[in-house]
Amino acid sequence: MQAALPSAEKNSRHFPVKHSWKIAVLANIKDEKQPKPEGVPPDVFAEFDRIETINALRAALETDGHTTVFIPADRNLPYALREEKPDICFNLAEGLGGDAREAQTPALLEMLGIPYTGSRVLANGISLDKTLTKRIWRDRRLPVAPFQEFLNGDEPLRPELKFPLFVKPSREGTGMGVDLNARVNNEKELRERVSYIVSAYRQPALVETFLPGREFTIGILGRADAKLYSRHPEWYEKDGFHRFPVLEMDASHAPSPWIYTHEAKSKEVGADGHLGYFCPANIEPDLEKKLKSLALRAHQLLGALDVSRTDIRLDEEGNPRLMEINTLPGLAPDYSDLCLQAKAENIRYEDLVLDILYLAAGRWGMIKPREAEGKQNQRR
Ligand SMILES: Nc1ncnc2c1ncn2[C@@H]1O[C@H](COP(=O)(O)OP(=O)(O)O)[C@@H](O)[C@H]1O
Ligand SMILES: [Mg+2]
Repeated sequence: MQAALPSAEKNSRHFPVKHSWKIAVLANIKDEKQPKPEGVPPDVFAEFDRIETINALRAALETDGHTTVFIPADRNLPYALREEKPDICFNLAEGLGGDAREAQTPALLEMLGIPYTGSRVLANGISLDKTLTKRIWRDRRLPVAPFQEFLNGDEPLRPELKFPLFVKPSREGTGMGVDLNARVNNEKELRERVSYIVSAYRQPALVETFLPGREFTIGILGRADAKLYSRHPEWYEKDGFHRFPVLEMDASHAPSPWIYTHEAKSKEVGADGHLGYFCPANIEPDLEKKLKSLALRAHQLLGALDVSRTDIRLDEEGNPRLMEINTLPGLAPDYSDLCLQAKAENIRYEDLVLDILYLAAGRWGMIKPREAEGKQNQRR
């Protein structure tokens, strides 16, 4: 048997890592100093990562003896991958343009046969499209607010959609296209907002019933056989999944009714104008159980892999309604919701990131499952 890495040994004696891998971190980076191109919405690069996040992620991966390289997920990516020849990629790439940008990098990696973390092509493509996602959930009776997609804005409004309504781009994230005018109160405001979204974001507008209640986000980590690959099998429940503590947006200082706008999302945690949050949320055990089970079902129905974060809001009657799932949740330490949820239960950033890596490596056959390894040892 090859020797385990010294650092892996320190962290978990039984963990079967045998190699130091070359890991490529793939992401699109925000260059805040660069002027924005003309004719694009003001929040066009909102989904992109800051270089500090990439550096923190690389440092975390390196704590377990791996080497890392950052490759920008731009049009040069195929050539850079050929040059760098990584063993596995840690995927944070948002992609560039088109109708399923978050699926671009996974699709390329599948074609090149390079292992990578997290969800694969289909789940990343569908989850970026909030309308398609909601159709899938609705088909399996998961609770979503009534909705309708507008391709141009002239379509008649379906009778089940009652004002106030909420309008957002169907295929964006990080609050893109969401400001205080996203809530519309009458037909005139609706038509104006839909045509703004369709023309500025060049994509359909998703119109939903406005959900006036509390807002939560719930992270999921794992899969049925997670315990076999994790450095922390104790995190995972019998079904192989870890449910992070529920995070609630703190709307107590926001005007009512409030929404989590792009502007609020862009603020540093604790800064003026940042909403603030509670984690774990102060909620009844029944609601907590319901939210966690909805987040898990949302993850499974979409075919998400290893990690995701689902946003849920309460309707007028206090019933949870799924808004969207993030199959590529942000990983900015002390900032991204998933990292805040992990921190709330004393899961270190390094451990979170390394588990995402090893869950993927297990799927791609790069490490042996813990049990099989144990049995092999017994035979010797
Ligand atoms: N139907 C809705 N009713 C009320 N608020 C909503 C609704 N849909 C979205 N929002 C608000 O807009 C924010 C962003 O919407 P979301 O669907 O999570 O997109 P993303 O986070 O990808 O930009 C939510 O966090 C929530 O505050
Ligand atoms: Mg969201």
